[in-house]
Amino acid sequence: MSHRHSDAENPDGLTIGAALAALAGRLATAGIDSARLDARLLLAHAVGRDPLWIVAHPELALDAAARERLAALAERRERRQPIAQIIGEREFWSLPFRVTADTLCPRPETETLVEAVLASVSDRSAPLRLLDLGTGTGCLLLSLLSELPNARGVGVDCSAAALAVARGNADILNLAPRAEFVSGDWGRGLDGLFDVIVSNPPYIAENDIAELEPEVAAHEPRGALAGGIDGLDCYRRMAADVVRLLAPRGIAAVEVGVGQAEAVCAIFTRAGANGTAVRRDLSGVDRCVIFGDWEKTS
Ligand SMILES: C[S@@+](CC[C@H](N)C(=O)[O-])C[C@H]1O[C@@H](n2cnc3c(N)ncnc32)[C@H](O)[C@@H]1O
Repeated sequence: MSHRHSDAENPDGLTIGAALAALAGRLATAGIDSARLDARLLLAHAVGRDPLWIVAHPELALDAAARERLAALAERRERRQPIAQIIGEREFWSLPFRVTADTLCPRPETETLVEAVLASVSDRSAPLRLLDLGTGTGCLLLSLLSELPNARGVGVDCSAAALAVARGNADILNLAPRAEFVSGDWGRGLDGLFDVIVSNPPYIAENDIAELEPEVAAHEPRGALAGGIDGLDCYRRMAADVVRLLAPRGIAAVEVGVGQAEAVCAIFTRAGANGTAVRRDLSGVDRCVIFGDWEKTS
């Protein structure tokens, strides 16, 4: 298919380069720090191409249909809808995850949990049992399954819409035969023992939500953010079940917000967890509380 279009389709000769510059300016005016990058992603989405292709072809004309699609995408971004929700995808652990308004957009710092778990597994081919509480897009469970070829896992969420997204992601990543997604309230009612338990629960203190950037406060699901008055409610509610469901020599890894690591260690220790430790993310923030008697799970 040719991407050069007639003057009739493109009366004022708007090129990709000019559209990119105009959109970046418009998004910057809307207060978006990543305006240029976002403009490139939106333009790529509007023309059904890779962002690198956009950069390589500034001289090509943008046809009327693409301009219309771009205008609609730009308007959503101006209203501060997250870019991942607009283009419907976010990369996590180098895998593509479908994202909707019903799921948290996977964050790079959450990869700290995947790293912490993999560092504790001595034999990646072992038939490990994994549990992900509050699975959202399924990013934690599915990333771990992609690295542990004989593991099987259960992802739990209280949101039926999020579970549907997670199941779709398991299909896209060819991991569905080893992943089960169930509706539930943290670990309540679950039986059996799991070698690996991961969770990234909502942990924003109620009064802090309005202070977050509009992409998060106005567009991400409140049920994925709100952690009660002090942000720690979900840890308190899940702690006893996580300790009960963790296999001997298993490892649990839970994400925490800035400044919460010590309090979360105390909550799990009170519930009977052994050997809590903290792992930092790439920004140096204490991000992940781990515990268990794993000494290399296999
Ligand atoms: C912060 S998001 C994390 C999503 C995903 N694991 C990630 O890391 O991107 C928290 C998730 O917990 C789910 N959740 C909230 N309360 C829950 C509950 N009581 N039981 C199970 N899941 C819950 C939310 O629906 C949301 O999908």
